[in-house]
Amino acid sequence: MVGPVTAQGISKGNVSTQSVKLSSGYDIPQVALGVYKAPNDGTTEQAVKWAFDAGYRHIDSASRYNNEEAVGRAVKEWCAANNVPREQIFITTKLWDADQSSVTAAIDESLRKLDMKYIDLYLIHSPEPGIESFLSAWKEMEAAVDAGKVRSIGVSNFDEEHLDALLPNARIKPVVNQIESHPFFAHEVLREQTLKRGLQIEAYSPMAQGAALDRAEIKAIASKHGKTPAQVLLRWGIQLGNVILPKSLTKHRIEANAQLFDFVLDEDDMDILNNLDEGLKMGKLGPPGTSAPASPGATRPGSRRGSSNNGLAGNKLQMSSS
Ligand SMILES: NC(=O)c1ccc[n+]([C@@H]2O[C@H](COP(=O)([O-])OP(=O)(O)OC[C@H]3O[C@@H](n4cnc5c(N)ncnc54)[C@H](OP(=O)(O)O)[C@@H]3O)[C@@H](O)[C@H]2O)c1
Repeated sequence: MVGPVTAQGISKGNVSTQSVKLSSGYDIPQVALGVYKAPNDGTTEQAVKWAFDAGYRHIDSASRYNNEEAVGRAVKEWCAANNVPREQIFITTKLWDADQSSVTAAIDESLRKLDMKYIDLYLIHSPEPGIESFLSAWKEMEAAVDAGKVRSIGVSNFDEEHLDALLPNARIKPVVNQIESHPFFAHEVLREQTLKRGLQIEAYSPMAQGAALDRAEIKAIASKHGKTPAQVLLRWGIQLGNVILPKSLTKHRIEANAQLFDFVLDEDDMDILNNLDEGLKMGKLGPPGTSAPASPGATRPGSRRGSSNNGLAGNKLQMSSS
């Protein structure tokens, strides 16, 4: 497990080589291209290929994003054109809530759409259908690992209560918890609870969906290092040891979001960033075609300040949810 990385202890990798060991034994590239809200067409295929050209080797999709076919086509074509084996690419996709009672069929459908023989990492997208539902889904996910359809399995949007329901019942341990985390909603309590239980953190909305890139504190740190505000937010996540999932469909942003390994945030920078948490929560994606936030009843632990943050308190800057 990767702990906090200090300026002294930082490894000097690059976006292609920087990876983290999962408890399953597989390496996961620390930077992924997120493809939420990316269409199932040539736009996403092109974005994924730009990402691979820029050194990314990890794509974060989900059946709910409805773009697994575009992702799969891009992987196949780019690997063939560049003589790169599929095994060098890390593909994550997720089980949508409504499919928790039919996991095997959902995995088979994702494999069909991706046109792949296996998925590197398969996540329960959220615990919202309930404990009984996700425990039963987990058994089927374990069977998919046994069958070689999936290499590692994990969870997303799980809080402490959900982790503690799952872990004693898991023959195969979840390797990651994918949760929202960026300096404006660091999710520090849940990060600690997750790390304590031996899971890797994957941070979604690592740039707060662009909602706070013009903040003076971020701009000052960016200017000090000759980097962009987005790179500062992403580098903060890297130094915490998170796997980060920046999303973009724009070539120059995809490239810039990978240029994170040629500078180090010092302790002063990290202190400033660690004090920006104001509960600016983007949230889990809403129903199709809407920008609705996660359901109001969804249990989420508080921010680093320890409140039972529901995404509303101190949320002056909240924009759309993902
Ligand atoms: N498990 C879950 O429930 C969950 C929930 C949310 C997200 N996720 C995952 O995490 C990924 C990332 O999260 P996200 O999409 O919510 O937010 P994000 O990555 O923080 O932000 C994406 C937004 O920022 C813009 N952007 C990208 N690079 C930029 C840059 N360098 N400068 C300025 N703006 C930039 C993008 O626009 P352009 O595309 O126009 O560049 C897009 O509008 C998702 O794609 C998905 O894979 C998972």
